[in-house]
Amino acid sequence: MMRIWVNGGLRDAGDARLSVLDHGLTVGDGIFETVRTSEGRPFALTRHLDRLTRSARGLGLADPDHDEIRRAAAAVIEANPVALGRLRITYTGGLSPLGSDRGQDGPSLVVALDGVHRRPDSTAVITVPWTRNERGALAGLKTTSYAENVVALARARERGASEALFPNTADRLCEGTGSNVFVVLDGRVHTPPVASGCLAGITRALTVEWTGAEETDLPMDVLAEADEVFLTSTLRDVQAVHRIDDRELTPGIGPVTAKAMRVFDERAGDDLDP
Ligand SMILES: Cc1ncc(COP(=O)(O)O)c(C=O)c1O
Repeated sequence: MMRIWVNGGLRDAGDARLSVLDHGLTVGDGIFETVRTSEGRPFALTRHLDRLTRSARGLGLADPDHDEIRRAAAAVIEANPVALGRLRITYTGGLSPLGSDRGQDGPSLVVALDGVHRRPDSTAVITVPWTRNERGALAGLKTTSYAENVVALARARERGASEALFPNTADRLCEGTGSNVFVVLDGRVHTPPVASGCLAGITRALTVEWTGAEETDLPMDVLAEADEVFLTSTLRDVQAVHRIDDRELTPGIGPVTAKAMRVFDERAGDDLDP
């Protein structure tokens, strides 16, 4: 039985409850982090906690207590032994009136851990016509208002793909439902800047740092020309893309992507909290 941390203590999954009036449920007023664990050790937890605080500030939620979350994470990891895990930290507006005003009771904190399988080295993606709003109040925040991603990912699954890539409102390349995107042009690696409206992915930042990739504002149709394309995210690390919509990329994993995968594996193995 999975054990989950809810507002101050561990509970069995069946008893792990928040109020039906929690603002996270009623209006999606919440933020989250997904942290990879390997053999019970979280990767890049400090960066995830720092981003959680940035997201909290963006929504006007009280700063999350990093010490409490570290204790909760340790308890959940100990209670749920898995080889490769998805540690999910959820922090919401808490008990609130029905409607968009937030209540006064303070935030809710949930920390849970699920076992996951390692992703394939390469995957198919689609593009979708819906846009990321780089000028929206939630731009760059990792909020639980993810239903746009639910819809886009379902579309990707229908087409035999594992990710959907969005343009922003100016038709510039932005990101996936749960990943950042990189393209290789003439041997150089590029990824959209945070100003495109994408999440400041932690895997993205490490990949930029470790491979020297450039942050470049790119048109959406760069995907039709790129020599190689890859995704980054907490659970994908660096993952090659072999198909975008109907375009098959060169079979196998391109040399630049292969190198980025190798460098990421090496560096992430050397330091669990880079
Ligand atoms: C919308 C979105 N973009 C990008 C990412 C990748 O970020 P990270 O590398 O921090 O997992 C995520 C999260 O996983 C995400 O939800």
